[in-house]
Amino acid sequence: MLVSGKEILLHADQNKYAVGAFNINNMEIIQAIVGAADELRSPVILQASQGAIKYAGIEYITALGKLVADKYDIPVALHLDHGTDFEEIMKCIRYGFSSVMIDASKYPLEENIERTKEIVKIAHSVGVSVEAELGKIGGTEDQIVVSEAEATFTDPKEAKIFVEETGIDSLAIAVGTAHGVYKGEPKLDFDRIEEINKIIDIPLVLHGSSGVPNDSLRKAVERGICKINIDTDIRATFATAVGDFIRANPEEIDPRKILTPARDAMKEIVKKKIEVFGSVNQAWK
Ligand code: 13P
Repeated sequence: MLVSGKEILLHADQNKYAVGAFNINNMEIIQAIVGAADELRSPVILQASQGAIKYAGIEYITALGKLVADKYDIPVALHLDHGTDFEEIMKCIRYGFSSVMIDASKYPLEENIERTKEIVKIAHSVGVSVEAELGKIGGTEDQIVVSEAEATFTDPKEAKIFVEETGIDSLAIAVGTAHGVYKGEPKLDFDRIEEINKIIDIPLVLHGSSGVPNDSLRKAVERGICKINIDTDIRATFATAVGDFIRANPEEIDPRKILTPARDAMKEIVKKKIEVFGSVNQAWK
């Protein structure tokens, strides 16, 4: 069942768990994610970055996303991850995404507010939910690169102003995570999550969650995180499984045989994440 990002995250907020938002690039990744969510009866968010849309084509991404949302009896949202381009965001809305992220976090507060407001007005008029970002999450996610020096934590007072002025449905906060592979163990500012959660009443989103220890993820959910983004862990699982298979079977040329272990391994990692996020048996459809 295709649902809006808002519906899926409000359920998570009310029931004190987080929904996994897993990045999709191709059919096997989508099958792995939805297969895992279905087996565990968990709501799930399939999210495509602008880079994923460029790679696969928006027709393929939306057709596959809507197909699995119809096929499985669990709530599924189709979400644009880190939309930085107005036309690209409009295209996703037009093709049937149920949720979009506008990432104008690189701009000063006022400009971030203006750019975000513009998207909210259009998206809400057709029932599409909007996530936005305040503060700067470090690391590399597709075309977005934020160095350690540029990364800044979300200011709770600014977050309140930002949410009130823009009317967004969920807020991505910078609290110590970073996109991509971590060099050391990430240290999350749990007090900041709690403080922001106390003063704003929309669901909070944690980006850069691959490589974050399970205990930290659980603690982040306890403090108010409702959406947890995972990309790198799936990519790494895919690459390792394909590499292992090809090394063990150098003569094999059948893509189905090469990709089956990767799809199985990605499904397992997604199941583990869903268990940590506390969304098992939370599917209400
Ligand atoms: P990771 O690649 O670190 O899991 O981050 C994913 C993400 O936050 C997508 O927006």
